[in-house]
Amino acid sequence: MTRHLVTSALPYINGVKHLGNLVGSMLPADVYTRFLRQCGEDVLFICATDEHGTPAELAAAAAGLEVAEYCREQHEVQRRLGEGFALSWDHFGRSSSPQNAELTTHIADRLMANGFIEERTTRQVYSITDERFLPDRYIVGTCPVCGYEAARGDQCENCTTVLDPTDLIEPRSAISGSTDLEVRETRHLFLLQSKLADEVRAWIDRQEQWPLLTTSIARKWLDEGLHDRSITRDLRWGVPVDRPGFEGKVFYVWFDAPIEYIGATKEWADLAPEERDWRSWWYDAPDVHYTQFMAKDNVPFHTVSFPSSILGTREPWTMASYIKSFNWLTYYGGKFSTSAGRGIFMDAALDLLPADTWRWYLISNAPESSDSRFTWGHFAQTVNADLADTLGNFVNRVLTFTARNTDAVVPTGGSPGEVEAHLAEELDGLLERYTAEMEGLEFRKAATTLRAIWAAGNAYWEQSQPWKAMKSDRERGETILRTGVNLVGLFAVLSAPVIPDTSATVAAAVGLDDLAWPADGAAGLSLVPPGRSFEVPPVLFTKLDADWVAAQVARFGGDDDPGAGAG
Ligand code: 2FM
Ligand code: ZN
Repeated sequence: MTRHLVTSALPYINGVKHLGNLVGSMLPADVYTRFLRQCGEDVLFICATDEHGTPAELAAAAAGLEVAEYCREQHEVQRRLGEGFALSWDHFGRSSSPQNAELTTHIADRLMANGFIEERTTRQVYSITDERFLPDRYIVGTCPVCGYEAARGDQCENCTTVLDPTDLIEPRSAISGSTDLEVRETRHLFLLQSKLADEVRAWIDRQEQWPLLTTSIARKWLDEGLHDRSITRDLRWGVPVDRPGFEGKVFYVWFDAPIEYIGATKEWADLAPEERDWRSWWYDAPDVHYTQFMAKDNVPFHTVSFPSSILGTREPWTMASYIKSFNWLTYYGGKFSTSAGRGIFMDAALDLLPADTWRWYLISNAPESSDSRFTWGHFAQTVNADLADTLGNFVNRVLTFTARNTDAVVPTGGSPGEVEAHLAEELDGLLERYTAEMEGLEFRKAATTLRAIWAAGNAYWEQSQPWKAMKSDRERGETILRTGVNLVGLFAVLSAPVIPDTSATVAAAVGLDDLAWPADGAAGLSLVPPGRSFEVPPVLFTKLDADWVAAQVARFGGDDDPGAGAG
């Protein structure tokens, strides 16, 4: 039987992630994982913080902490927020783990032994004051083309000219401002990607089912020609390079980060070595189907660089079976930005509303075929129409009315008639479509179908008019109520991948503890047996009104028309 390995791109350690980061990797990975688990599949869902590199060092310095301590704290923050969003990782690891260092070293050794890594001498800017080599973007100076005074060593922001740090006039360190810089020779390891390009292309060519977004980005890189890339840096924080002459150097963060997918699995296994075997997932594992989730900026690293590292080992490591990639979620058409603090961040989001509210909005508006635009008005509209009016109202209405008429026991009278047969048939079709969309990782479409399932329940209840039937034909009335309670149970099951907390509340109310994916519509209508007592849960979703929208716009920024949006 196939086993499913699922990973989401590893969030950088430096700071709380925004909703764009969440919808572009971690959240859809969680939805897919939950769906697979409900289908009875064997799934391992791995994520971790991506902790190395200059940004981590600089963020730690800004926080006045040692980088190791900074990472430890921030990992904890991200873990807590991930749990707040109900991300059901089997393990949330850390790329700074000894397991990752060991695997990174192993993979580099193999690449070296196979002739895919070569030592080269490069010339780089060294800051005497900072006692370190400076990465290109940490050198600033005057642009030789337009005279802009704060041009970065890799590019002038003002005139967009691509630069080399040595082009800058009066260069200085972006870290300390020091001008005490000199160019020094330094040795680095280069991954000879050019030698592996044909193999990588052949691998991409075999992936006929992959989303176009993924393969088109991969082919663009391959068509431009793969350059040999330096995979080491003159930094202190990272996986040390165990090689004479490389003292004080570490692997480049993008070399060790994807290896942490394996590293984190080993961290997970090391917590219970008796029962868990990381190798069975990663090494010579033909029964493993491996799905990766990421935003489009990560695609080149996962379709080209990481596969090069893996293929060059000549060892049977598991490679991605499917790469699901996403466009951007924008904040009013602009970029969510960590550095500018623009948009909504995971901590602020959870302070404002329950996780499921965000999960539903993000998945039903996932930036799959194009970018999606977040606005507070649209957010409120979505929450009100889908969660409050369609799902929440149905659950509340059905359970309240039934409880009042039956002492909160699922009624036993009557038997399903033509209307119920028709409903089961309609649900059959919707369920089949929903399942196929989940399997196909088409999240937006899946959410649309789930909403249609909720709407079918509402339509059934409206048309059957149980409030009349209970007076005129009790048996018929009880059939409708029983069907209604079962629809509530079915909604709990089918909504669980997307809104797991709400689903758990609803399932508990109707005494459902098995959320196994139903085989068909009829099975879905017999989840809650007659005679079982149930409870009416509190109102599931509160509506967001125009004042609420205006308050968020005032706090976070945006240009909603205060009169429009929330209804
Ligand atoms: O873009 C990012 O947020 C990176 N930290 C993703 C790394 S994914 C993997 F390769 F580790
Ligand atoms: Zn310029």
